[in-house]
Amino acid sequence: MCNKKPYYITTPIYYPSANLHIGNTYTTVAADALARFKRLTGYDVFFLTGSDEHGEKIQRIAEGKGVTPKAYVDEIVAGIKELWKLMDISYDKFIRTTDDYHEKAVQKIFTQLYEQGDIYKSSYEGHYCIPCESFWTETQLVNGNCPDCGRPVERKTEEAYFFKMSKYADRLIEYIETHPEFIQPESRKNEMLNNFLRPGLQDLCVSRTSFNWGVPVEFDPGHVVYVWIDALSNYITALGYNTENNELYNKFWPADVHLIGKDILRFHTIYWPIMLMALNIPLPKQVFGHGWLLVDGGKMSKSKGNVVDPVVLVNNFGVDAVRYYLLREIPFGSDGLFNNEIFMKKINSDLANDLGNLLSRTVAMVEKYFDGVIPAPTAKEPIDDELIKLALETPVKVEQHIDKLRIPEALGEIWALIGRANKYIDETTPWILAKDPEKKERLGTVLYNLAESLRFVSVLVSAFLPTTAQKINEQLSVNLTAWDTVSAFDGTEAGTRVKRGEVIFPRIDVEAKLKEFEAAAEVKEEVKPSMQPLKEEITIDDFDKVDLRVVKVLSCEPVKGAKKLLKLKVDLAGEERQVISGIAQYYKPEELVGKYVILVANLKPVTLRGELSQGMILAAATDDDSKLFTVSIPGELPTGSTVS
Ligand code: ME8
Ligand code: MG
Repeated sequence: MCNKKPYYITTPIYYPSANLHIGNTYTTVAADALARFKRLTGYDVFFLTGSDEHGEKIQRIAEGKGVTPKAYVDEIVAGIKELWKLMDISYDKFIRTTDDYHEKAVQKIFTQLYEQGDIYKSSYEGHYCIPCESFWTETQLVNGNCPDCGRPVERKTEEAYFFKMSKYADRLIEYIETHPEFIQPESRKNEMLNNFLRPGLQDLCVSRTSFNWGVPVEFDPGHVVYVWIDALSNYITALGYNTENNELYNKFWPADVHLIGKDILRFHTIYWPIMLMALNIPLPKQVFGHGWLLVDGGKMSKSKGNVVDPVVLVNNFGVDAVRYYLLREIPFGSDGLFNNEIFMKKINSDLANDLGNLLSRTVAMVEKYFDGVIPAPTAKEPIDDELIKLALETPVKVEQHIDKLRIPEALGEIWALIGRANKYIDETTPWILAKDPEKKERLGTVLYNLAESLRFVSVLVSAFLPTTAQKINEQLSVNLTAWDTVSAFDGTEAGTRVKRGEVIFPRIDVEAKLKEFEAAAEVKEEVKPSMQPLKEEITIDDFDKVDLRVVKVLSCEPVKGAKKLLKLKVDLAGEERQVISGIAQYYKPEELVGKYVILVANLKPVTLRGELSQGMILAAATDDDSKLFTVSIPGELPTGSTVS
């Protein structure tokens, strides 16, 4: 086994957010298909995934929930692992950035870069987006908000360490230009060169002092290592880099491919290679930035609220239906659309009809005409050659596509074979052959060829749809499943008994399912253009009695035993106030943390459910309270600023 070629493939390590949507799932399913395919074709594969657990956002969410960040991420990461199990992800290692060996290795990396002069101490001023954990310059902001998520940013000044990115820029440009396969697809390479590298790189801020949920800088423990330096290092620390246990590192580094979404390409093709250059480590062979999965024209993302839950899809249609759609329908490298109706129709046509029927018809005919025993191919005819030739060519074509990471095209080749086999049934008309006892041997040969074609299909799809491959094998009692068995069209053993099983992809009643989904989703009633009558007129002096102030939400948690109430701690120019607000149906506690909202600051304190409430948060709501938004300011002001 030691002569197998190593193949190292990674996914990004995921932020621990409560629900991964079908978009995040895509990266990992695609990586899994590649990893399985490489294993199938004889590589010694190491497939890495994991979780990216540090940072201010996590710390704040945990504080809002009143738990430690570690307790919070432990729970979420357990859920991520469950999801990967559900999606049949065959990772070899799951790294957590809170793993002890990782943290130590990151500390050593940071210290080395400091000691050799690539990292220096200075101070930072900029606009920071907490949810995205990114600093932005004035010009990068869109309407004063984060260009990625559109939410307000905070102005921040901190003492910080900086990485001399510019020192390595020329080397990196040269590397990218002389290694055309390094950044893929091609269009992304030009984007990185023209938008970021050629205009000149700024030094990167690589430490933070405003929170402590991170890897402490070894020689200056008030600082934690910037989350991207921490996160990117995972690709080598997972292999034991900077530890005594570094056999995996020696064997698998440099990575064959980092598979990532295009939103994090800049980090992987600029910061990461520069880190590696500074550490004198070879660069990964390829970084592949795939496109986004879109719903209703927008990027699917948790922060935008249009989540499509992979668990719901798997529970309704099975894991391979979801895997198939992701792998086949999303053009690898560009954006793709996710839509329930298109999804179900595709499952019906490709899986239920093309593949499912081929299997059930073949098994049924072997049962009906040969008592369930696969006959020997003793009566060949020229018409068989076309099918056999295509079957033998398909593995070669599939492998060529996969070598270029063209997953949909690879599946397209397999479905061409499935289509050809279905056509072969129409051409040979076994039901007519069955009427003529003289044609028994010919009928047997036709059924043998169909069974053998399905064995080819099973071996070929096993990397993409592992459960389906297993089901085919069970029904046809396939024994030979290795890659080298699809170089000859004779692996099915005559005399083997078939076992009719359940329909592998039941036809979906698309209309009914859509209705069911619609009913499950909350149908929001239209807001009628009516309003409550206006109140009695007041003077400016009346209004002036109400003291409205900008406050920042520091933490937020539910009030025990009160479904509608949230307990907020807000900052009012350094003074901490507690406010009980009846908005629990409209906001998750963590959604409010960090927001700048408006407080009625001179309202007489009251006690609600045994909790002191020092003021009231302004909110706008529909008359029937079906919808509510707190009033927040779109930018940032010192807390205590007046509102009038
Ligand atoms: O970025 N369609 O983690 P993450 C397709 N922790 N892919 C999508 C997507 C969509 N709608 N939304 C997200 C991080 N993704 C960092 C990575 S690596 C050292 C650190 C993809 O949980 C996204 O592009 O935000 C990324 O590849 C993956 O999901 C994880 O995103
Ligand atoms: Mg992201």
